[in-house]
Amino acid sequence: MTEKLWGGRFAAATDALVEQFTASIAVDQRLFREDIQASIAHARMLARVGVLTEVEASAIVHGLRRIEEEIAAGSLPFTDRLEDIHMHVESRLIELIGDVGKKLHTGRSRNDQVATDMRLYVRSAIDRLCALLYDLQRVLVDLASREADTILPGLTHLQVAQPITFGHHCMAYVEMFRRDSDRLADARRRVNVLPLGAAALAGTTFPIDRWDVARQLGFDHLAENSLDAVSDRDFLLEVAADLGILAVHLSRLAEELVYWMSTNVAFIDLPDAFCTGSSIMPQKKNPDVAELIRGKSGKVMGQLVALLILMKAQALAYNRDNQEDKAIFFTAVDEVEMSLALLVRMLPGLQTRPERMRAAALEGFATATDLADYLVRRGVPFRDAHAVVGRAVRLAQERGVGLEQLSLADLEAISPAIDATALEVLSLEGSVAARNHLGGTAPAQVRAAIARARQRLEQEARR
Ligand code: ARG
Repeated sequence: MTEKLWGGRFAAATDALVEQFTASIAVDQRLFREDIQASIAHARMLARVGVLTEVEASAIVHGLRRIEEEIAAGSLPFTDRLEDIHMHVESRLIELIGDVGKKLHTGRSRNDQVATDMRLYVRSAIDRLCALLYDLQRVLVDLASREADTILPGLTHLQVAQPITFGHHCMAYVEMFRRDSDRLADARRRVNVLPLGAAALAGTTFPIDRWDVARQLGFDHLAENSLDAVSDRDFLLEVAADLGILAVHLSRLAEELVYWMSTNVAFIDLPDAFCTGSSIMPQKKNPDVAELIRGKSGKVMGQLVALLILMKAQALAYNRDNQEDKAIFFTAVDEVEMSLALLVRMLPGLQTRPERMRAAALEGFATATDLADYLVRRGVPFRDAHAVVGRAVRLAQERGVGLEQLSLADLEAISPAIDATALEVLSLEGSVAARNHLGGTAPAQVRAAIARARQRLEQEARR
């Protein structure tokens, strides 16, 4: 009646719309390597425990290898009739090697199979993402080193706050991406657990050796409960959350790139190869890559929410809902991977415009705090110093000049604690150089931070 591998108990064929609705091959075909790798490990184990003969297992392994080549070459046609990647591989195997192929599914279910495939996929996705995060940190450290002395206004509330160096700003992102990488590496430990052996939900009657499979596939642990193994997707939730946080960081960097390149700010120029033009305005050079990184970050965050809602309130054990996890998760990984790769390529070509940055830092009384600190060093309590400098700012504002342009007489009139030495602390260079402690913006500290980051990255590269 029906050619479905599970068709025995069915008297009627599946409705065409149901086939279309339930098929996942369009999405899960990307798991073909993981699926075949896990099937090979399963077949070998079955032979070792005596469920298959060596001859049967090696026929299966050869068949699976051939299918892997066929799929890689695009020569195996996919069809909704065969639902998913697991069914495609299994039916092709039976086509290729005959009845022996029908033995592969002994002692397992698609439920533990798909969970295994996903864990293998996520594990390598984490490795790719960490490699990209590594490259991005390197690029940012190099940029920081080039711009360790470049002064720009640091902002709070998007208002000029205090002068900082561009190198210091770049190193802030190095810290964020380092934590993103740490988070993923930490999640990897919980991803790298073998579900296979759980079968449909309760385990199997065959004398399987789960550690044998785990060793073949490089898993560090076995899932210890079969119901949990086939049904929970918290390993995806966790990584999706890490990607969501990473996307927040990407969006902040992207936003700053857009802002810095805005015509009226013009702190930086991004390479032509990473900008696009306007179909109507001939003069335009737009930072579309940065804008799209910012835009796509929202999509990544949305995937986390979609996954949380997918899993919420699912009764144990496996439910078909879980099939939807793949499209959601793949989207998040793809967008983050592409965004990281683009930043790695684009940022080395970022050109700063130090004269524009400097001019902006000279506006907005960026060194007012330095003057207050100066007064404190001369015995004025900080709160009083704050008020004194506030008066100086008001005077400078009335005159339409910067603090450093007030005359010594003006300053002395505001506070007797001020003398000629005050003028030094009002300079941009003096201000950044004075923040000379671990974590501060002084160029010397930025260089020290760069040296530490380089050393850490070198150690990571050797691992
Ligand atoms: N394509 C399915 C998925 O991705 C495989 C598992 C199907 N299991 C089942 N009992 N129908 O979840």
